[in-house]
Amino acid sequence: MSEIARVFDSIYSALDSASYRATVQEYSREDSMPDWVLPFSAVRGSELEKIATQLRLRAGDEFVDLGCGLGGAAIWVAERTGAAVIGVDISAHAVKQAQLLATRRELGERARFVAADMTQTGLPEGSFAGVMSVDAVLLADPVAVVAEMHRLLRPGGTVALTTFEPKEPPTDDPLEKWHVGDYGPYFREGGFRVEVHEEIAGWRDRASAFSAAVRAHADQLRAESGDIADMLIIESEKELTRPRVFIAATRL
Ligand SMILES: C[S@@+](CC[C@H](N)C(=O)[O-])C[C@H]1O[C@@H](n2cnc3c(N)ncnc32)[C@H](O)[C@@H]1O
Repeated sequence: MSEIARVFDSIYSALDSASYRATVQEYSREDSMPDWVLPFSAVRGSELEKIATQLRLRAGDEFVDLGCGLGGAAIWVAERTGAAVIGVDISAHAVKQAQLLATRRELGERARFVAADMTQTGLPEGSFAGVMSVDAVLLADPVAVVAEMHRLLRPGGTVALTTFEPKEPPTDDPLEKWHVGDYGPYFREGGFRVEVHEEIAGWRDRASAFSAAVRAHADQLRAESGDIADMLIIESEKELTRPRVFIAATRL
């Protein structure tokens, strides 16, 4: 098992706690999502809406969510659009939880989750109308992940994602190894037309709100989720300094 899979398996096995749910609800109160979405990311309701709009999916289409985590965002977009989703995540624990959520949401055949690397999903080539991703592509080789998106999509298919574009160079930390300051050239050179590439407005304030919500629940989070509480504090403070962007691109 890769180190990154181990890290996320241990995060997800401790994440589903009352205090983490309360943290997410507090952070996203002004821009809400249903409770069951439970992201492990900074996503809010308006971003899910924007992803669904940009993907231009219709009932009967199929799309992929790369780095889907617990599956809530993928399921929200599938429900909103009527399309079917395959979520891909390197954490087997997350994928199992995502499949349970799909069953609870009664999505039947319309939501399937697989444990795989987002750069080598093993899914069929050229058969998807869309690819979405929330705060996950920064964890993989950008050339390989854009190539996999291109391989998965049919011509004219769309990518819609949020990610960070840290200006500091990559480090040896597995969470920072693939940091990229500008995804634009990767998409253009990977066979896409970039339709939208913009900084998410008000991100610094939101990141502060997230970090404040984590701190407000820190004692309970430590009791329920162990080390994850401190990891959330450290990561949320790092995120304050990193531009977070929305990208939509069409496969040529
Ligand atoms: C910050 S979380 C975001 C999860 C989810 N998109 C959400 O919004 O809740 C990043 C996710 O990427 C997954 N991940 C990291 N590296 C991956 C890889 N190489 N292939 C597939 N998934 C990966 C992690 O397991 C984790 O679930």
